Amino acid sequence: MAGIITIFGTGEGQTAKVAERIDAELRARGHETTTVNVKEIDPGLDIDDFDAVLVGASIHMGRQQKAVRKFVNANQAVLARKPNGFFQVSGSSGEETEEGAAEAARYVDEFIEATNWHPDRIGLFGGALRFSEYGFLMRALVKFVARVESSEENPLADVEYTDWEEVEAFANEFATFVEERLGETAED
Ligand SMILES: Cc1cc2nc3c(=O)[nH]c(=O)nc-3n(C[C@H](O)[C@H](O)[C@H](O)COP(=O)(O)O)c2cc1C
Repeated sequence: MAGIITIFGTGEGQTAKVAERIDAELRARGHETTTVNVKEIDPGLDIDDFDAVLVGASIHMGRQQKAVRKFVNANQAVLARKPNGFFQVSGSSGEETEEGAAEAARYVDEFIEATNWHPDRIGLFGGALRFSEYGFLMRALVKFVARVESSEENPLADVEYTDWEEVEAFANEFATFVEERLGETAED
């Protein structure tokens, strides 16, 4: 059993939902999990107390949350010595086209360049758009930047693009990776 912490950034809550689903999968595998919003980290929390670290972020106007980048920068050394992973939630990944995938990959490349952190595992997931909460201009802007369409029948309906099976598969693959890595260390 490993102690796994997931730190995530979220704007409208979809990355929080993804983080919770990952947490549930890891727990079902027998691991001890902690999941924290990057904005609510207790100053006494020490990442070094955990065996593995996952970091999640969503994309707004082409970037992950600043607080997530800051967290990664501040914890470079600890991240480097633990099995780790990164997951990103975006409209581009929800588009399910080559262009969308390339755009999502570009966000990750920029994140890696900005933080100099090269995660062991990376998961890219589609997000959700709350068209019901946006005014006319915001709807047009979001469709343009997030590369998504609203529902044809009801342009004001919220749309979820997240593939939950992909999220669960990522969590399980990460669990296997952590188990193998910690097993190797224990045998040394
Ligand atoms: C104002 C706004 C800007 C966005 N900009 C982008 C973007 O530049 N690229 C993209 O792929 N998705 C973009 N999205 C889509 C979000 O990544 C998607 O809604 C995601 O689910 C947000 O996750 P969160 O609720 O955890 O913040 C944007 C969404 C909003 C509301």
